[in-house]
Amino acid sequence: MKILFIGDVVGSPGRKMIQQYLGSLKKKYKPTLTVVNGENAANGKGITEKIYKGFLDAGAQAVTLGNHAWDNRDIFEFIEGVNLLVRPANFPEGTPGKGYTMIKVNDVEFAVINMMGRTFLAPNDCPFRKIDQVLEEVKKRTPYVFVDFHAEATSEKQAMGWHVDGRVSAVVGTHTHVQTADNRVLPKGTAYITDVGMTGPYDGILGVEREAVLRKFYTNLPVRFEVAQGREQLNGVIIDLDSKTGLAKSIERILINEDHPFYE
Ligand SMILES: [Fe+2]
Ligand SMILES: [Fe+2]
Repeated sequence: MKILFIGDVVGSPGRKMIQQYLGSLKKKYKPTLTVVNGENAANGKGITEKIYKGFLDAGAQAVTLGNHAWDNRDIFEFIEGVNLLVRPANFPEGTPGKGYTMIKVNDVEFAVINMMGRTFLAPNDCPFRKIDQVLEEVKKRTPYVFVDFHAEATSEKQAMGWHVDGRVSAVVGTHTHVQTADNRVLPKGTAYITDVGMTGPYDGILGVEREAVLRKFYTNLPVRFEVAQGREQLNGVIIDLDSKTGLAKSIERILINEDHPFYE
């Protein structure tokens, strides 16, 4: 049993890569569950209902978010009415939407949880205590638990990996937009990677047009960040699970760009 996860889709270049490759990736890896992080999908900032539906049409069964969840106001119009979109579970009490969802695929139920780190990010509720609470609920129903931990600090992500080792199928990092090479299965059976990376512009800076970012570094003057155009990339992971225990057997990185072409 496999889970395919695609890292932060950035703007139209990222959406183009989803259209172009998600079908082929699903054909190649045959995942039971496919999840896409969509926090940057609408021009780098947030997500719209149309884009959310586009991801489902392209083959995703759940969409996760992060610190950019509320950046496009369209989300307030539809998040309460949909079941397959999750925002960080440790957002303050009373925040719209939900922090995890249960998805049934061919008689198998998966929990998809989104959680956010607090180091160098907004002071949300403690993600470590919050995940314990969420796991108490979802583990009554299923051993197949996927966590997108959206965080800045590598140490906080590693800490979360060890915190939930043996209790979830996988915890994958998102947010920093650069794929890390530390994918592994932790000793008690949880698949882990510090960051899955980003799906979008290949030649920008974290997906942003590089001239603006360079100007910022050169001068410290205020600049307007736009999604970069040009060549694209796709970053993801494929996680193989033991169908009895829900624990991971392997986690492999997926990287598609002009220097690393896709093979069927
Ligand atoms: Fe992001
Ligand atoms: Fe983020």
